[in-house]
Amino acid sequence: MNNKIKKIIDKKNKSKLVCLTAYSKNIAEIIDKHTDIILVGDSLGSVLYNYNTTRKVNLNMMIEHTKSVRMGVKKSLLVIDLPYNTYRNKSEALKNSRKVIQETKCDAVKIEGGTRMKHIVSYLVKHKIPVLGHIGITPQTVKGKFKSKGKTEIEKKKLIRDAKALEESGAFGIVLECIYSDISKKITNLITIPTIGIGASVNCDGQVLVTDDVLGLTNAKIKFVKKYTNIKKIINSAVLKFKKEVKSSKYPTKKYSY
Ligand code: KIV
Repeated sequence: MNNKIKKIIDKKNKSKLVCLTAYSKNIAEIIDKHTDIILVGDSLGSVLYNYNTTRKVNLNMMIEHTKSVRMGVKKSLLVIDLPYNTYRNKSEALKNSRKVIQETKCDAVKIEGGTRMKHIVSYLVKHKIPVLGHIGITPQTVKGKFKSKGKTEIEKKKLIRDAKALEESGAFGIVLECIYSDISKKITNLITIPTIGIGASVNCDGQVLVTDDVLGLTNAKIKFVKKYTNIKKIINSAVLKFKKEVKSSKYPTKKYSY
């Protein structure tokens, strides 16, 4: 296990993990000072490209965005989502993981699914590919509306089975998406690798959010999303000032001219 991954695992029960998404260098550079993990999520499909499903995101898009993010990341662990249909079997998963790691110099891949992914995660780990798991709501395979998981006994048992399977396969952590707090707590206490929650309560070893949501760049109206600022307002007022100065020939003054 490499040192960077070990450091992440070692934080369990000691210090909460801070994880955010980034899709470009400029954002990555700012958040890297504060994050443990930066995820190039396939959420970029809906956030940047207005896709109605992450299934439309392809490997090349992920690679290009991750190359950009890589330039801004100095200290955080850089994780890339393997997009839909790029890890359907062991050899496809290994081939594509190697490709993204080689081309982007990221540190790890994230794949969605629990027990059904056990053989793939084990195979990747055996070939020295660090894997972050993802259970609960898994947007690449969700059918119909997004509904939080872990309400019924059947769902609870499945989530526990999934988390155990990923731990046994050698994943270094698991994203828990939209899971009821009691079951997040149970999973977090049961496994030795960190859980990173998104809509999965404070009972996780860390939290992840989509940075564009945190900044107020999106119009997300999701229960777990907390807007920490309204950057749209800030951008709007800066652009308005620029517009006024252009119209009134106040910009550029001598200072900004050759
Ligand atoms: O695609 C993504 O950004 C994610 C996180 C929100 C967990 O999977």
